[in-house]
Amino acid sequence: MFDSETFIKDSITQLKDKIKGKAIMGVSGGVDSTTAAILVNQAIGDNLFCVLVDTGFLRKGEVEKNHQMFKKIGLNVLSVDAKERFYKKLEKIIDPEEKRKIIGELFIRVFEEIAKEKKAKYFIQGTIAPDWIESGGGLRDTIKSHHNVGGLPKDINFEIVEPLRDIYKDEVRQVGKTLGLPEEIHQKQPFPGPGLAVRILGEATVRRAEVVREACHIVETEIEEAVKKKELEKPWQYFAVLLPLKAVGVHGDLRAYKNIVVVRAVTSIDGMSASYSKIPDTVLERISIQITNKLKNHVARVLYDITNKPPGTIEYE
Ligand code: XMP
Repeated sequence: MFDSETFIKDSITQLKDKIKGKAIMGVSGGVDSTTAAILVNQAIGDNLFCVLVDTGFLRKGEVEKNHQMFKKIGLNVLSVDAKERFYKKLEKIIDPEEKRKIIGELFIRVFEEIAKEKKAKYFIQGTIAPDWIESGGGLRDTIKSHHNVGGLPKDINFEIVEPLRDIYKDEVRQVGKTLGLPEEIHQKQPFPGPGLAVRILGEATVRRAEVVREACHIVETEIEEAVKKKELEKPWQYFAVLLPLKAVGVHGDLRAYKNIVVVRAVTSIDGMSASYSKIPDTVLERISIQITNKLKNHVARVLYDITNKPPGTIEYE
């Protein structure tokens, strides 16, 4: 059985041996990168610099909130605004794997610039086992190139260190809890590294990012309120996806021809398999009304996804 205390003790010893000097780490505020950052910080202290990249595809208010959270934990953190660079590189890109590879590479280029500035030779990633398994690690087929594995360019100027590489999400949560992370972080729902860009099917433009950001915010708010009211058990993950299609609707007496949003919520243990959440109709209806009201100039239809994994995956790209 997995023992988080032994894992932490062994990891800190190994990290102390391996990292001789300064290191930078890309952090997102999720459970994986936050847990990895604390482990590395316990091994090398202030030689670790955490970098929060604003890709333009993060959730509402996330950059500021996460920056404050890292400061509160006592880590060195800096935020980098790279929104325009990400939007520009993704112009006209439709293919999901191409999107993931562009995002993976741009992340690395941004980190290289910071590493140069900080004179860091090591780059820490919060990669966990399913990331490299699904990226085609070992003898498997590539399901999707996780930004931090299959999306990495070949010419990298620093040494990569991945302290959580061999463990799964539920184990990371145990490690995070043992390290003293508050429940809102160690039980936080996962968020993919490429962010909302893989929840915008088709071209990931600034405008489409704004629509999906608001739709995701509505799904999160409504589901979390319903969980508080005990209307349902908290799903493993819950979000919105913007389809590259439009449908006809009606606003008052007027015809509307607008986007279609899919609501996705799943239950899972480690993200390797999942079943769609059986959300009560009343909650789904509130989500649908909120999305079509708040985004009435953009969205005409809201669908609920009833696909398990397999055969689906949790995200859409
Ligand atoms: P899928 O969509 O493959 O996702 O069923 C399984 C879990 O992994 C998350 N995910 C990612 N996490 N980088 C990450 O750090 C990525 O590129 C990435 N792609 C998917 C997904 O949100 C789900 O929790």
